[in-house]
Amino acid sequence: QTQPESLAQAWQGIFKVGAAISPGQVMYGGTLIEQQFNIIVAENAMKAGSLARAGEGQYDFTTADAMVDWALAHKVAVRGHTLVWHNQSVDWMFDDGHGGTAKREVVVARLRKYIHDVVGHFRGRVFAWDVVNEAFVPDEPGTEQVKGWRSSAFYQVIGPEFIALAFQFAHEADPQALLFYNDYSTEHPAKHQMILALIRDLQAKGIPIHGIGHQSHYTIAQPADFKVLEQHIVDIGKLGLTNHITELDISLHRDIKVSSADDATPELLALQAQRYSDLFAMCARQRDKVSAVLTWGISDAGSWLRQWPQARFDAPLLFDDDMEPKPAFDALIKLG
Ligand code: XIL
Repeated sequence: QTQPESLAQAWQGIFKVGAAISPGQVMYGGTLIEQQFNIIVAENAMKAGSLARAGEGQYDFTTADAMVDWALAHKVAVRGHTLVWHNQSVDWMFDDGHGGTAKREVVVARLRKYIHDVVGHFRGRVFAWDVVNEAFVPDEPGTEQVKGWRSSAFYQVIGPEFIALAFQFAHEADPQALLFYNDYSTEHPAKHQMILALIRDLQAKGIPIHGIGHQSHYTIAQPADFKVLEQHIVDIGKLGLTNHITELDISLHRDIKVSSADDATPELLALQAQRYSDLFAMCARQRDKVSAVLTWGISDAGSWLRQWPQARFDAPLLFDDDMEPKPAFDALIKLG
């Protein structure tokens, strides 16, 4: 039996498989994207800082539209990332025009207009939105927080209701779109409890929330296994929501120093392949509760982990610097 050479094909009928893309990749890696994936997300192009940098009501949809149009023409679904985030956001939303902070009602009105405009612009083309990203930081040392909530401008000016408002506005703008709360470290017990509380709160208020996005920025050492994540996915599923693995990468960094491609030994790459396989196998077991898995980038060369938390070598993705498939890719094709 010949094996499929496409991740999307290998996992067809189980969940969608995709990746975050940047504009250049649509041009240079377009063929690879349409072969391998049936879902994409823009790595940066749909963040507020990209769409509305110039000021209130002033949008530049050029890059995002090109990516979305390309994807839909190739039967690739599009996730939207992200409407409300403390990073890569826009200062004008909070500005009173005199060097101070605008009143709550002004910021809420701006947030409503921004979400209505953006979700409305992509209505019928973007099927799922990360409405709010990274609002909770329980027990995260060094992070300014109030009762586990990140003390972002949204939180400070609007209060915790900014999440419910954002979901309400997104639903108004596209009643068909699936609405997600997205975060990292979702295997953290305290963060999981905050996520469950959010879901129950929105459900009690009659405000739609359809899914939880698990960023899943992992390393070959952490988490040790995916049992806790699996339980959390089950908990979320029991509340009637779906789960997406939204930003998967598995860094080679752990206790050892990985400073160049020479350090990406066959042993490390095999371990990485095992970790990818374990996660995909868990998601396949929970296929009625997991509907998409996306890696955060395609080629190692373009991974954000080459810049963050510092400039250094890493090789966390499924394709190497030359866009050649790695052992992790082969393992996922076999497993699918
Ligand atoms: C990152 C991008 O990959 C980088 O190119 C950019 O400079 C910063 O943002 N969590 C998220 C993503 O939700 O939006 C972040 O993406 C990575 C962490």
